[in-house]
Amino acid sequence: MAETLFTGISQLVTPAPGPQRGPAMRELTVVPDAALLVRDGLVSWVGPRRDAPAAAHLHDFGSVAVVPGLTDPHTHAVWAGDRLADFEARVEGVPYETILARGGGIRSTMRATAAADEAELVQLALPRLRALAVSGATTIEVKSGYGLDFGAEIRMLRAVRALQPIISVTLVATLLIHVPPQTGRTDYVQSVCGELIPQVAREGLAEAVDVFCEREAFGVDETRAILAAARQHGLAVKLHADQFHAVGGTELACEVGALSVDHLEASGEAQVAALASSSTIATVLPGVTLHLGLPAAPARKLVDAGACVAVGTDLNPGSSPLFSAGLALALAVRLCGLTPAEALTAATANAAAALGLNDRGALVPGQRADFLALHSADWRDLAYALGANPVRDVWVGGQHFKEHSR
Ligand code: NIG
Ligand code: FE
Repeated sequence: MAETLFTGISQLVTPAPGPQRGPAMRELTVVPDAALLVRDGLVSWVGPRRDAPAAAHLHDFGSVAVVPGLTDPHTHAVWAGDRLADFEARVEGVPYETILARGGGIRSTMRATAAADEAELVQLALPRLRALAVSGATTIEVKSGYGLDFGAEIRMLRAVRALQPIISVTLVATLLIHVPPQTGRTDYVQSVCGELIPQVAREGLAEAVDVFCEREAFGVDETRAILAAARQHGLAVKLHADQFHAVGGTELACEVGALSVDHLEASGEAQVAALASSSTIATVLPGVTLHLGLPAAPARKLVDAGACVAVGTDLNPGSSPLFSAGLALALAVRLCGLTPAEALTAATANAAAALGLNDRGALVPGQRADFLALHSADWRDLAYALGANPVRDVWVGGQHFKEHSR
């Protein structure tokens, strides 16, 4: 039995386990001068240092704050090529959607990704995942979606599977049905439902299916058909919706009980109300607001209405080159109006729930021992610091974060 008592914790800070909605997102437990007992990779005891049980091993942090490991519930960390020319064009005034409609943007990343083999995709993604882990992400979702054809989609998902033994954080793969082909979209949707989803489910390559529901991508009816096929094959569902236009994706996600609906920059009162009365998690992605200059998702209104809000990086080359889960949390405070306490809950318990994971995100007995020791004695530095990494040490399942050689 592996057992370690962690001490030297100025504050141990945690939300309650499981998805937290509305005002409960602000209710953190703060234990001053704390200790944390980890047994076999799980939290086994938390409390004041003076009450701590004896343990076989001791690890003293000095005097710093400890918080749960973050979950990044939305990334596109596997891609090839770059979008630097798009970036320059956008800065000079060409809209993201115009670049996409001209065959650039996501479609240019698809061409580059289709040309890369699995080993190259692994090599390209590893430093991105390392950056997210060092920023505090102990669980990271990774989507496909840059496959020009089904073979490339499968290759992306296999790259995620190949990355898992290399890096000690948990990776969660999602099949993303991203943009339709320029011709033959009806046949494409049929093949996604009849061929791609069954193969992905059969080979266990993804936990969930996501669809980009948007004017320039898939409509509500197409999205509904894809989500139904996913469900039939035992996969969870989630959506990219309301990024540029509220075309009905959020309402559909709530209706079918999706795990999460992500983006929401263009959501209005109707979408906020739908999310407030649903168990679907509203995932906000403030890196997109920063990078594309879009309006921020209405996270403040969502929390006030009683919704369950999560935050992610949306790490991708086009709309959010944000390589830090900690910075996503800090930006959710600046750009989306969350309080530091709400942002911590959004990035931990709620972000894990957005992946259907209720075994992590809170430092209470029985949860995974995924946690972060900060540089600071005050946990609020995590939401405050911009540009320097406030995270000192990352612990995953009670072990210091590590990479294994390939
Ligand atoms: O989540 N909006 C759709 N998909 C991604 C962007 C992907 C890209 O631009 O390459 C997103 O923002
Ligand atoms: Fe995305």
